[in-house]
Amino acid sequence: MNISIFGLGYVGCVSLGCLARNGHTVIGVDVSETKVRQINSGLATIIEKDIDIIIQEEHLKGRISATTDFIEAINSTDVSIVAVGTPSSSKGHLNLEYIFNVAEHLGVALKDKNSFHVVAIRSTVFPGTIQKFQKVIEETSGKVANVDFAVVSNPEFLREGTAVHDYNHPPLTLIGSQNKKAADIMASLYNHLPAEVVITDVQVAEVMKYVNNTFHALKIGFANEIGNICSALNIDSHKVMEIFCMDKELNISSYYFKPGFAYGGSCLPKDLKGLQTLAHDLYVKAPILESIDKTNEIQISRAVNLVQQLGKKKIAILGLSFKAGTDDLRNSPAVTVVETLLGKGFEVQIYDKNVQLSKLTGTNKEYIDQHIPHLSKLMVNHLDELVDYAEVILVNNREKEYVDMLLETESAATIVDMVRMPEPIRARANYIGINW
Ligand SMILES: NC(=O)c1ccc[n+]([C@@H]2O[C@H](COP(=O)([O-])OP(=O)(O)OC[C@H]3O[C@@H](n4cnc5c(N)ncnc54)[C@H](O)[C@@H]3O)[C@@H](O)[C@H]2O)c1
Repeated sequence: MNISIFGLGYVGCVSLGCLARNGHTVIGVDVSETKVRQINSGLATIIEKDIDIIIQEEHLKGRISATTDFIEAINSTDVSIVAVGTPSSSKGHLNLEYIFNVAEHLGVALKDKNSFHVVAIRSTVFPGTIQKFQKVIEETSGKVANVDFAVVSNPEFLREGTAVHDYNHPPLTLIGSQNKKAADIMASLYNHLPAEVVITDVQVAEVMKYVNNTFHALKIGFANEIGNICSALNIDSHKVMEIFCMDKELNISSYYFKPGFAYGGSCLPKDLKGLQTLAHDLYVKAPILESIDKTNEIQISRAVNLVQQLGKKKIAILGLSFKAGTDDLRNSPAVTVVETLLGKGFEVQIYDKNVQLSKLTGTNKEYIDQHIPHLSKLMVNHLDELVDYAEVILVNNREKEYVDMLLETESAATIVDMVRMPEPIRARANYIGINW
């Protein structure tokens, strides 16, 4: 395939070399004449393992060239990959100047181009950028998106230092596209790689890089805070983290990675508090650990606000314990929500298939006596009673009984969902998910 690449920095230079090595004819475009000259002399524009040899070899084969003339590059190619910089502005905002500059160039060139052109944004951009990018091309060229051209998101996951290896061994290939033809053309560039090609919504693909990199930064910060606490206790932090990483069920896994309601129960809040206090007593600063319960409180307030903004009075609570399959009410976020709603003057009724007041004992009973002493007056014994009563149904647990009831009910009550009910429930008009 004939491919043009805008931006000959780290990402662009690696893509240029690797795509040429895969047999494509690739032309680089950059505003820097120095970089264009380097490529045309068979030299890489960056220091990076293996890329110098690849660029040299592919240049000799005639599969690599570069230009500052964007019209020539776009006219002679079917796909343009955009890998220009997206630096932070002095105030920390994302500077998309170079990106929109390329959109204007594409618009000018596509005005007179008659074949379908695919544009892939490989730079890291905010969600919504591609929609604007597409509009700039439409306005400048007079062409129609998804008819004459298509813009897709194709974020880059490489790391500097191992960039060529990472290009050839990506964790996955991600393509965000609303155009099947463009997605298929882009997928064909990567089909030989040992990685799944995932085609998804444009905005999902756009936000992915931010989510990934933020999580990577969080991992480093978390490991360092644990390391700092361990070293203050004379514990070998590397032994700790090695064992931590051996748990592929709950630690290094997709478990707990589902946006939804706050955590609760008798262990997570208690043990987090314990470690925070230990760090404090050791004079070890641990701001990541300290922020975890704050973000949890925000999630509880978010649930209350969602109910409050509906302006309805009669609130049904589906599930009071901290998760499905247990009657443990200790530190259940739903208990805090009920307490807050009662304090704000809402009428509340509760159904929880696992909670039988007569069977609550020990610290579980003490907790609920302290927080909702008149709980017995709020609990109902049958789901039907709850549905007949409700103007709002707040779903806190994903018990099968609740799911089945919500699938069947024709109640006009608004469902406020903390646990992501199945699609038919989510598709209803009177439905709100906590963060989806
Ligand atoms: N560096 C990485 O490891 C990495 C990894 C993944 C994603 N990214 C993202 O990829 C993008 C590029 O990063 P980079 O590190 O390669 O940047 P870079 O600064 O090394 O290179 C960007 C290049 O774009 C050129 N450029 C600017 N405006 C142009 C225009 N109008 N036309 C043509 N060329 C133009 C610049 O001259 C420069 O050579 C960024 O959004 C970055 O966040 C970078």
